[in-house]
Amino acid sequence: MKFFVDSADVDAIAELNDLGMVDGVTTNPSLILKSGRDIVEVTREICAIVSGPVSAEVVALGADAMIAEGRKLADIAENIAIKVPLTWDGLKACKTLTSEGRMVNVTLCFSANQALLAAKAGATFISPFIGRLDDINLDGMELVADIRTIYDNYGFETEILAASVRSVNHMRAAALIGADIATAPPAVIRKMAEHPLTDKGLEGFLRDWKKTGQKIV
Ligand code: G3P
Repeated sequence: MKFFVDSADVDAIAELNDLGMVDGVTTNPSLILKSGRDIVEVTREICAIVSGPVSAEVVALGADAMIAEGRKLADIAENIAIKVPLTWDGLKACKTLTSEGRMVNVTLCFSANQALLAAKAGATFISPFIGRLDDINLDGMELVADIRTIYDNYGFETEILAASVRSVNHMRAAALIGADIATAPPAVIRKMAEHPLTDKGLEGFLRDWKKTGQKIV
């Protein structure tokens, strides 16, 4: 499974990228606000650090305006993926922008029917929002599984980009289902390394090593 970092925090992205943990980045208007930076400036900086797809989201609601914004965002760097919402106008913009050879990430997906439309509109990525479905007592991971089944049934090439990932359990479940990508906050990715038995085992090893009185270097 590819890891995308869901953030516009350049330092956090760079730290994970140095570890080889970053296959791409996703941003959205809320993450740009959180960064406190200009969208073009911060997106350009991210694109210079990360070689994989970097999603930048349009904010227009009409197809023509989305297409114009998408073209402007795509001019930032070669690895820009234009993010459009899963609305009828977003699907129209997706069809036009992908036909121009641009990567498009269709976001705010909350149903299998929406994902089916996005694939037929030629989406490069589909972003089902797991956490926000869980928030209203629905099963976000079930949506990911449904999309995986439907896409595999018909050989759609659109990549499933599991989004609104809130926990390490979401990462594991998305990988078990076979999502192509999971995009997660830096903290969730870092937390994947943590286990209390690892800490306990390391403590025991170092305690016993100290008793040997030896040094390696
Ligand atoms: O990529 C979408 C993600 O940023 C949304 O996450 O936690 O606001 O649902 P969340």
